Amino acid sequence: MNLRIPGPTPVPPEVLQAMAKQMINHRGPEFAEIIGDITARLKRLFQTENDLYILTSSGTGAMEAAVVNFFSPGDRVLVASIGAFGDRFAAIAKAFGAEVEKLDFPWDSAVDPDIVEARLKADPSIKGVMVTHNETSTGVTNDLPAIAAAIRKHDRLVVVDAISSVGAIDLRTDEWGCDVVVTCSQKSWMAPPGLAMISVSPRAWEAHANAKMPRYYWDISAAKRYLDIGQTPWTPAVSVFYALQVSLAHIEEQGLANILRHHEELGRYTREGLKAMGLELFVKDERCASNVVTAVKNPEGMDLKAFLRKLRVEHGVVLAAGQAKLSSSIFRIAHLGYVSKEDIDDALSAIRIVLPQVGFSLPKARV
Ligand SMILES: Cc1ncc(COP(=O)(O)O)c(C=O)c1O
Repeated sequence: MNLRIPGPTPVPPEVLQAMAKQMINHRGPEFAEIIGDITARLKRLFQTENDLYILTSSGTGAMEAAVVNFFSPGDRVLVASIGAFGDRFAAIAKAFGAEVEKLDFPWDSAVDPDIVEARLKADPSIKGVMVTHNETSTGVTNDLPAIAAAIRKHDRLVVVDAISSVGAIDLRTDEWGCDVVVTCSQKSWMAPPGLAMISVSPRAWEAHANAKMPRYYWDISAAKRYLDIGQTPWTPAVSVFYALQVSLAHIEEQGLANILRHHEELGRYTREGLKAMGLELFVKDERCASNVVTAVKNPEGMDLKAFLRKLRVEHGVVLAAGQAKLSSSIFRIAHLGYVSKEDIDDALSAIRIVLPQVGFSLPKARV
């Protein structure tokens, strides 16, 4: 199968094999060695000297940890949303009693940092801003350095959902002043789902000291206490640790700069290939197009369900539909993690074959 959804992403064979190893004592020296190694590698890839913790959960668990550890019920927070995952951050903050102000931007566009700045300037009571770096539901990447700079200018916490970006799209945690950054194993990291990661700046630790939202499983004070002795507070997904150790070693061998460039090239290549078929990208301004997932407007008259089914059943290519209000108006093709130009060629060829069978005529010159 050519799995072209934005997570779980394909996992290299040697990473899968690593998971066949027997269990070990998660309170013993072998595990301490593994968690120490993985944490150090992840910090380098997050481009940070901040603390970093590995949680056993999917990405949403780390988003919840990014809320409950740094805020109190009644705290005002700003959530800049351009899609389903921005909306999720707002929903989590609301569920834990934050007073959420949502800044909604059109889903085909990026956050306007000037609008964020204006809101912070107007309201000194806002304690922090949540933002999605790469909005997986729409294929739009925000200008995180500009947004973070706007937030830092007003000295509020910068909380970033980098779940589908870090490790594939440049994210300079320290240089850009990101206080809390979250991601998870099944995205750029070429590992199965099961682990999430959260980085915590000294400013975020200060906020944590006074944060009163209810928390237990996600308490980063517990994560810190345990990491100091090479453990996690609760039983970790040991097999995914095995996998991640192997995949992170590969990533570091290839070099972060090369991996970022690879995603940049694949993003451009995918967009060009789709446009050449006469398809229209969902993103309004291609300068903020995501390099890890491309969203395409469903052409007029195309049967989306038949399109996705034919691709999967007849060509072994798995694409994603849209999410939330875009569920029937876009489809998405991911180019994230363990993916080559050949995988994209294979997906594009299949799309080219299937489109005319489901109600879309390709431009004559390209057929
Ligand atoms: C940007 C973003 N945020 C949050 C999530 C949620 O992560 P999970 O499904 O692992 O909980 C995803 C998953 O696709 C994502 O891409």
